[in-house]
Amino acid sequence: MRRSNPITIAALLATTNAASLDDLCTVSHVQAALPANGTILGLNLLADSVTAAAVYNATVGRESTATYSYCNVTASYTQVGKDNVIPLKFIFPQPPDFQNRWYLAGGGGFSLSSDATGGLPYGAASGATSAGYDAFNFSYDEKVLYGNGSINWDATYAFSYTALGELTKIGKPLTQAFYGLNDTKIYTYFEGCSDGGREGMSQVQRWGEEYDGVVAGAPAFRFAQQQVLHVYPATIEAVNDYYPPPCALAKIVNATIAACDPLDGRTDGVISRTDLCKLNFNLSSLIGESYYCAAQTGTSLGFGFSKRQAPPGGQTSVQPAQNGTITAQDVAVAQGVYDGLHDSNGKRAYLSWQIGSDLSDADPTYNNATSVWELNIPSTGGEYVTKFIQLLDLDNLSDLNNVTYDTLVEWMNIGMIRYLDSLQTTLPDLTPFQSSGGKLLHYHGESDPSIPAASSVHYWQSVRDIMYPGLSDAESRDALSDWYQFYLVPGAAHCGSNSLQPGPYPVDNMATIIDWVESGVKPSRLNATVSSGVNKGEVQALCQWPTRPLWSGNSSEFECVEDLASVESWTYTFDAFKLPVY
Ligand SMILES: *[C@@H]1O[C@H](CO)[C@@H](O)[C@H](O)[C@H]1NC(C)=O
Ligand SMILES: *[C@@H]1O[C@H](CO)[C@@H](O)[C@H](O)[C@H]1NC(C)=O
Ligand SMILES: *[C@@H]1O[C@H](CO)[C@@H](O)[C@H](O)[C@H]1NC(C)=O
Ligand SMILES: *[C@@H]1O[C@H](CO)[C@@H](O)[C@H](O)[C@H]1NC(C)=O
Ligand SMILES: *[C@@H]1O[C@H](CO)[C@@H](O)[C@H](O)[C@H]1NC(C)=O
Ligand SMILES: *[C@@H]1O[C@H](CO)[C@@H](O)[C@H](O)[C@H]1NC(C)=O
Ligand SMILES: *[C@@H]1O[C@H](CO)[C@@H](O)[C@H](O)[C@H]1NC(C)=O
Ligand SMILES: *[C@@H]1O[C@H](CO)[C@@H](O)[C@H](O)[C@H]1NC(C)=O
Ligand SMILES: *[C@@H]1O[C@H](CO)[C@@H](O)[C@H](O)[C@H]1NC(C)=O
Ligand SMILES: *[C@@H]1O[C@H](CO)[C@@H](O)[C@H](O)[C@H]1NC(C)=O
Ligand SMILES: *[C@@H]1O[C@H](CO)[C@@H](O)[C@H](O)[C@H]1NC(C)=O
Ligand SMILES: *[C@@H]1O[C@H](CO)[C@@H](O)[C@H](O)[C@H]1NC(C)=O
Repeated sequence: MRRSNPITIAALLATTNAASLDDLCTVSHVQAALPANGTILGLNLLADSVTAAAVYNATVGRESTATYSYCNVTASYTQVGKDNVIPLKFIFPQPPDFQNRWYLAGGGGFSLSSDATGGLPYGAASGATSAGYDAFNFSYDEKVLYGNGSINWDATYAFSYTALGELTKIGKPLTQAFYGLNDTKIYTYFEGCSDGGREGMSQVQRWGEEYDGVVAGAPAFRFAQQQVLHVYPATIEAVNDYYPPPCALAKIVNATIAACDPLDGRTDGVISRTDLCKLNFNLSSLIGESYYCAAQTGTSLGFGFSKRQAPPGGQTSVQPAQNGTITAQDVAVAQGVYDGLHDSNGKRAYLSWQIGSDLSDADPTYNNATSVWELNIPSTGGEYVTKFIQLLDLDNLSDLNNVTYDTLVEWMNIGMIRYLDSLQTTLPDLTPFQSSGGKLLHYHGESDPSIPAASSVHYWQSVRDIMYPGLSDAESRDALSDWYQFYLVPGAAHCGSNSLQPGPYPVDNMATIIDWVESGVKPSRLNATVSSGVNKGEVQALCQWPTRPLWSGNSSEFECVEDLASVESWTYTFDAFKLPVY
């Protein structure tokens, strides 16, 4: 590839917008565009580390058929006073495609995104960071401990929020200089779900003035409570020494969906109002219903918190044919899960999954040798306890011997306090983001079986209370809605649609946030499309929290209604802890 003279390029950029991808995509041009030492406090770019290569007509992403031409760049930086080298990836769209945007995609589980191509569909430059712990090659849970008892705090803060904030601090001026647009505003976006949603929230909370628009789905925040919650269903079973057949649990879920589906005014296989289900449906009515599941050999899957999702002892699980009727003990397990964790004094420690959500965290393991159902500890929760609480380099708890509900509360409390300003990610004062004009679009599948939908509701409530303490209910809702909107997605599961409920899912979130940020089009509803079932293709305009959907008469669209009892059913106080839980 030919070498370009950076002065010539700068002149070209200054006079016309005629620079081609080949002109810009050179090592020397990128080196010249790097923010100079001293311009970003504490971060120095390493010019010698730069690579740049033009890529033409490439297909990126899994489903996309579109092709893109872009400059593929790597560069490293160091934190002043440390002898670390942190590699970064960047993708710059070819000049005609660039629309003055910077975009970061969230990762999932314990991984940041390692892909920098996510901005291409939006005409945005983008980046990815190795975060100082080799995050392109390792997930954070593999790095959190140097060894037993020794926390890697650099990796912890990097994963929690600093690595992505530093990437944006570097990426924006680099993008401006790359395209010769030093005085032009670069609209800055973050989009993610699950841990990616948490990462988005971390950027709003810690680097708020850097971002114009953030789309955060089902955020895996309130990390201590959220992770220990994954151990709660198994603890109910261990405490009661009763392990329900998974088929009985699946039947409880299916029968609950069938019973509660009509409460929202339309029978479409979807509980659009889990609050009405919670308030009006009694699981005990299912006792005696029969269930049947055929024998199967399969792979057990977790819900995306850890790359190592299989329980210890192997990948395959065997399930015999299950044929029986729902018992009071089965219902007691399900009811306990949906009620949420309380300590031995009856004080609430955490919220739970909405009634009708899949109960897969409660599924026991079948012991093929003894033909009994046994304890199964989801590694999503067990690994958090071993590594982050007990500080032991083990991938899961081996058992729950002597573990009580109070033990879970204690684990939550230790985790909350230890990681309060890192992983917890629930800082509710969003003043820097709000006052610099940022817009936040937050959504959550109402039947999420991994991260409870109520966990998002609670954060919305915390932000409102902290940001607008003096305003009335209506005033504070309106004020918040100007820059932070939250939508529950009826029936949806964790960061996607739900095979048990053929409901809608929002698919145009980036278009919505771009319109809001760049054209001032403030949403009031959020379009979501049904992707399966009899209503496949239907577009539903989701209701902005705290209004709730209700079909009335034979209307083809639901209304968004005010319902105080519903909202109260989503409102919690966690008095098992001495500290406030935001
Ligand atoms: C910027 O700082 C880095 C590390 O501190 C150093 O290696 C590099 O040479 C500096 N660059 C310039 C242009 O001074
Ligand atoms: C990329 O595709 C465009 C349009 O199809 C074509 O004109 C161009 O030659 C292609 N470039 C390369 C390097 O293949
Ligand atoms: C960027 O370049 C690196 C190094 O050649 C390569 O491994 C990577 O696949 C490229 N990425 C894209 C998105 O083109
Ligand atoms: C990933 O690890 C390999 C060695 O295992 C190393 O050569 C490579 O540089 C690492 N990649 C990054 C981006 O750090
Ligand atoms: C860390 O602690 C666990 C549990 O006690 C033990 O099994 C493991 O061997 C220890 N690892 C090291 C490197 O000492
Ligand atoms: C933009 O900034 C870069 C880095 O500071 C500088 O090298 C370049 O000349 C500037 N370009 C324009 C068009 O001002
Ligand atoms: C629950 O419903 C799903 C589909 O909606 C079905 O595949 C599954 O077999 C049902 N399970 C039980 C136990 O009825
Ligand atoms: C549910 O029904 C059972 C059995 O009829 C009853 O004991 C229980 O009190 C009911 N629960 C609620 C919340 O009404
Ligand atoms: C389940 O058990 C019932 C009662 O024993 C029996 O009538 C039924 O045929 C069984 N169903 C299957 C699918 O095995
Ligand atoms: C489970 O046990 C049955 C009967 O003892 C045996 O035939 C079967 O091979 C076992 N399956 C596995 C996967 O171990
Ligand atoms: C668990 O509790 C039993 C009985 O209360 C006690 O004997 C045992 O030492 C305890 N085990 C542990 C590991 O604390
Ligand atoms: C929402 O969907 C409706 C019906 O498909 C459509 O008319 C409307 O333009 C969409 N709104 C937005 C903001 O995309």
